[in-house]
This record gives sequence, structure tokens and C-alpha cells, in this order.
Amino acid sequence: MARFFSEQWIDELRSRIDIVDLISHYVPLTQKSGRFWGLCPFHGEKTASFSVNPQRQMYYCFGCHASGTAINFVMEMEHMSFPEALTQLAEQVHMELPEEKFETREGISKDQKNRLYDANRACALFYHRQLWEKKNEHILAYLHNRGLSDSTIRKFGLGAAPADGREAIRVLTAQGFTEDELVLCGIAVRRDNQVHDMFRNRAIFPIIDGNSRVLGFGGRTLGDAKPKYLNTGDTPIFNKRKGVYAHNLLHKQHQLKRVILTEGYMDVIAMVQAGLTGICATLGTALTQEQARLIKRYAPEVWVSYDGDSAGQHAILRALDIFDLENIPAKVLDYPDGMDPDEYIRTYGSQGIESLQPTDAILYRMKRESEKHDMTTQEGKTEYAIACSRFLTKVREPVQLENYVQRLVVETGFSRDVLLAQIGRTESLPPEKQATYRRSARPLDEQSPDYHNEVDIAELQLLALLAGGSLQENVISAQDFIREDHRDLASALLSGENANSVLERMPDVERGKIIDWLEHDLAPDPDRNLQAANDCLRKLHEKKLDMEIDHLNEELSSASNSNQLDIIKQIMSLQDKKRQLRKE
Ligand code: UTP
Ligand code: MN
Repeated sequence: MARFFSEQWIDELRSRIDIVDLISHYVPLTQKSGRFWGLCPFHGEKTASFSVNPQRQMYYCFGCHASGTAINFVMEMEHMSFPEALTQLAEQVHMELPEEKFETREGISKDQKNRLYDANRACALFYHRQLWEKKNEHILAYLHNRGLSDSTIRKFGLGAAPADGREAIRVLTAQGFTEDELVLCGIAVRRDNQVHDMFRNRAIFPIIDGNSRVLGFGGRTLGDAKPKYLNTGDTPIFNKRKGVYAHNLLHKQHQLKRVILTEGYMDVIAMVQAGLTGICATLGTALTQEQARLIKRYAPEVWVSYDGDSAGQHAILRALDIFDLENIPAKVLDYPDGMDPDEYIRTYGSQGIESLQPTDAILYRMKRESEKHDMTTQEGKTEYAIACSRFLTKVREPVQLENYVQRLVVETGFSRDVLLAQIGRTESLPPEKQATYRRSARPLDEQSPDYHNEVDIAELQLLALLAGGSLQENVISAQDFIREDHRDLASALLSGENANSVLERMPDVERGKIIDWLEHDLAPDPDRNLQAANDCLRKLHEKKLDMEIDHLNEELSSASNSNQLDIIKQIMSLQDKKRQLRKE
């Protein structure tokens, strides 16, 4: 992003927006007891549980717990990134954007870029019209032969690039575009001072982004010519590692339960024609983190739906790695006989694809792994168990892990305890030791947040008290927090940063908890708040003592005789402190 939005600028923007005004453009709101109410746009409902609080400039749904500021609302509703939402809101309130610090890539101005988008759009329309020209009837026939209806062809704006090597250039220059512009956006290529159309005698798949802009094209050969698909290369307005095919259709969907990610243009089109929504494809490259993040904006989960051939299977594992990295829950649609989704639909029809059940990512990894080893020998089973334990360590929920371990027991014959030890879990240890080991295995602030443990709850309550402005000075300090991210948020709030700006950058779940707390606390009472803060502080204090004790216990086991006594003394003094704390 070439633009830098300063905190000051964002505060100014915030002060110009009225959240009630903004949201009522999307949802009819009625006023009742100091708040505005409407039907929640984020989950289906018949009675209004979605509230907008004009004092706090926040929204909160008592049904699905969606919550946030005006900026969060636009991000959620419009599937936008933070800077995109800022830009859109600034336009609405006629606020000037901060200056662009750098020229965009290849030193192209915004106006020039818009020219390229216009050229691509004009070109897509040209190709689309060509599909119904007599001389291109073989291209239309090709698409029909692949099972596509006219309405599907229109939905995706498919087209025909005529065989003549200059027709697109002729038509588009007549509309006022220069040859240089056409070369720049990849519609034309220049060779030996001559320009030619990039695409000739191919079926055309326009690549359209979430803002309905045409970024480029894929062109499929009708015969065996190489390459099978010719794609627009990288241009000032197109980077195939950043976008996905059919982003425009994805953008129109709300509340998707999952996105299906495929490998090919035709897979997307066949699935959409079969009646599915929320489908997209990478653009002929391996999945990137940028694409994974883009997908994450549209649904809580993704199903990887690649070809069933061996290259496809390999790509599935790499895609699962990327989704893991981005913390996106993923499942796999596993097609039989090396088929791709398009072929599968042709064979089994749309019912076939709808009844296909996704495989859990871990089970998929286990299945692929088992194929690599000779599972009839003990050696093969051992290798398999070792390989599986490497990815099983990442499973967070104990109940889920249990399912996989049970399966491994059956497959390999190893006992549950041995497998858990291999995976690095300690359930096989006696209970009293177990607790110590678990807590000290990783410092608390590195543990994955599950929002159920005492520390998280106490810290979120303290943050809520701070955000609500209900604590007097000097009751708490940032150092009281155990989790580092919470400590940062607390110190921002304590230093007087706007509470909405702090809440805005929290993960959705945590923000939801805090706002939930604020919204339910209708009659703030200073004494009760102080009491609540002290309870939380005591819990955190106790936890810190526990962590120190655990740490010393670990040291104790490897300490020399002369040091042991010293460590034991320290432990005893900490335990004393704990008792003191409890008495208070
Ligand atoms: P596939 O070879 O699996 O093609 O490539 P497909 O989608 O099944 O195509 P059909 O059904 O034969 O028409 C998957 C994707 O990889 C990219 C395209 O995006 C394609 O959809 N690709 C493939 C290319 O970009 N160039 C190629 O030459 C081949
Ligand atoms: Mn195919």
C-alpha cells in the first residue's frame, strides 16, 4: 500500500463518521432506549438483536456477537481490508486521502491505471461480442460442447478471441486507447516494432476482481496448441499471485460457510453452473499466502478442491500448509480416479458434487502419508507413526487429537500412550505431574488463545474496564497483563489512545467478548468495577506465581545438590506469597 494512514488521520476520519448514519444505509434501524436496533446483516434473523450504540460508536449483535466500529463494519460488509475500508469511508465523508508516498509499481499514476482497467473492460466486451459472430462459431461450439449454457457464458463474461491477429487492437484503438496502453495491460504484444493481439483463436476467460474490474484474461486453445491456457502476464494492474479467479462472484456472497478453492477456470465455472456458490481458483500458480488471506475474508473455512491426479495431490498438501500458516481451517474434497471437479460433475452430475463430503485436513494428510509407507511391515508402520506425529502436534483440541490417535492405534498397533508421547503430549503422565508439565511446557503468553482459560478471561475483563473508561487512574498497569498482545493493548488504552481504535485492531472474537461485556453492563457502578478489577488482578498475580513456581520446579530437577536448597527456599517463599494473596 503506497498510502500511509497516520493515527491522527484515522482519528479525524472517525470523528467525521456517524456509525448510525453509516449502518442505516445497509440496515433499517429504529431507536429504542438510547440505542438503534435492526436485523443483523451478519446472520439470518427475524427479530432485531443487532444494536448500534451512538455514544460508543460501536455495533453489537446480541445474537451472533458480531461487533466493532464503523471501520470494522465496512470491512465486514464489503469484504475489505483495513486500508480499503478507510479509503471508502473517507470518500463518503469527503475527506481527502493522505498523499501517496510513492508512485505505484512501475511508476504508473492512478489515472493511468484507470485507463488500463478501462481498456481491459472494453476488450472483455469485445471478446464477449465476438462469441456470437459467425466466424467464431467454432469457439462458441467448443464452450457448448464443454457443457456450458449461454447463461453461464454470460455470467462469466466468456468470450472469443478471433483468429485475425490485430482485430482487438483495431477495435480498441478506434475507441481511443493507444497501442502503448494495450501493450501495457497485456492485450497486445510488441515484436520487432509490430503490435499483435496477444490472444488469437482462443476461448477467453476474463479475470475480474472484487471491485468488478477486469484485470486480465486467460485464453484456452481449442485444439492441442501449447500452452493450453495463455494468461495475461504481470502488468501494472495484475499480479496473478495476489488474486483469484471469480473474485467478483465471491464478493457478491455473504455469510458463506466455506469457500471452495479449485485449480482451474473450468472447475469454477462447472461448479457454479452446478448450483454451488463461493467458488474460486488460483491462477495457474501454487497458492500464495496473499490468496489465502483474501479467501479468509469470505468464509470461516476453505475446502481445497484440486485435481485428483498426483500433481494435484501434491499441490493439496502445499495448500494445506499455507492455510495452516494463516490459521485458516481447511478441508479437502478428494476426487476419485484422478478426476478434476469439472470432470467429476460431468460424470456424476450436480447431485454428485453436492453429496461429496469434504475430508478433514489431518485425515487427508494421514491418508496421503500412509500411501508412502509399506503398512504391512512394522518398519513401515513405525515410519508412518513418526511422520503423522509431526503434524498431529499442531492439533489444539484434545478431543480432536483423541480421534486421530485412536485411528493411529488401529493402523499401527502402537499403544495410545506411546503415540501421545511421540506426539509430545503428556496425557500418559500421572495427573499431578501432568499439570506442572503442561503449564511449564510453554510460557503462558505463547500459548494459543482459547478464550476459556482464566487468564484470558481476567485480562479481557480488565481491558473492557479500561476501554469503558470505568477505572480510576493507577488501579492497573500494563505490566499486570500476562499475554503480550493484551499488554500492548492495555498500554495503548492507558496512554489515552482512543478506545475504538484499540478495539478495532483486536481479533474479532476478543473484541466481541469485550463489547459483549460493555453492552451488558448497563449501569456501571464504580465500586463494583473496582472490585471486579481487583478480582482479575488477583487471578493474574496468582497465575504469575504459579508460572514462577513451575519454572523453579523444572530447574530443581536438573540442579546440583548445592543449588537445590536455594531453589526450594525460593519455591517456599513464592508459595507463601500465594497463600497471602488468597487470604486478602
Ligand atoms: P489444468 O491443466 O488442470 O487445466 O490446469 P483444466 O482446468 O483442467 O482445463 P481444461 O479442463 O483442460 O480446460 C489448471 C489451471 O492451470 C492453469 C489454468 O489456470 C488452468 O485452469 N494453466 C494450465 C495455465 O495457466 N496454463 C496452462 O497451460 C495450463
Ligand atoms: Mn479440466
